[in-house]
Amino acid sequence: NLKPVNVKLVLLGEAAVGKSSLVLRFVNNDFQENKEPTIGAAFLTQKCRLEDKVIKFEIWDTAGQERFHSLAPMYYRNAQAAVVVYDVTKAASLDKAKSWVKELQRQANPNIVIALAGNKIDLVQPAEESEEDPAENGREGGRQVPTEEAKAYALEAGLLFFETSAKNGDGVRDIFVEIAKKIPLE
Ligand code: GTP
Ligand code: MG
Repeated sequence: NLKPVNVKLVLLGEAAVGKSSLVLRFVNNDFQENKEPTIGAAFLTQKCRLEDKVIKFEIWDTAGQERFHSLAPMYYRNAQAAVVVYDVTKAASLDKAKSWVKELQRQANPNIVIALAGNKIDLVQPAEESEEDPAENGREGGRQVPTEEAKAYALEAGLLFFETSAKNGDGVRDIFVEIAKKIPLE
C-alpha cells in the first residue's frame, strides 16, 4: 500500500575509498576484494522500507579519479542525498571528503541530506574470535583518522556520520536508513 518515494542519491569521495563497494554491499549484499575503478559513474536502484514509508534510492556512484571530477555536478545537481566517503586508513581521503562537502554545500540543492562515511573499519578493528594479529591484517598504517575527529567535523558541518565496512557490512545499511528517515514525505 505504500508507494515508494524516489530519492536521488549521489556517492562522492576520493578514488578507492570504497564507494562502489558500499553500494554493492547495500544493493546485492556482496563484496569484491579487487573491485575495478568506476569509469564516469554507475547507476543502481534499491528500495529501503521504513515503518511509515518506502524509499526507492536512485543511486549515482561516481568515479573518484581526479580526471572525472568535472562530471560530478551532473550527478549531484538534483540529488536529495549525498554520501561522501573517506577511508579511515588514509588521512588525505578525509581532506578530499571535506572539499566535496564544501562543494555540495555551495552548489547542490540547499536541502540535500549529506552523510559522511568513514569506510574500511575492518582494517583497524581486531577481528573477534580470531587468532590473527590486528597489526598484520595487511595494512601498514592502521587507522589514520580518529573517530572523534571525523565525528566532530561532521557535527560542525551538519552531516550524518557513520563508520562502515563494505567488506563485512558493518554500518552500511545504517547510512541509507538514516538518510531515508531524514527525507520528508512528499
Ligand atoms: P573509484 O570508483 O575509483 O572512485 O573507487 P571506489 O571508491 O568505488 O572504491 P572501490 O569500491 O572500487 O574499492 C576500492 C578497493 O577497496 C577495492 O579493492 C575494494 O575491495 C576495497 N574495499 C572497499 N571497501 C572496503 C572495506 O570496507 N574494507 C576493505 N578491507 N577493503 C575495501
Ligand atoms: Mg567506484
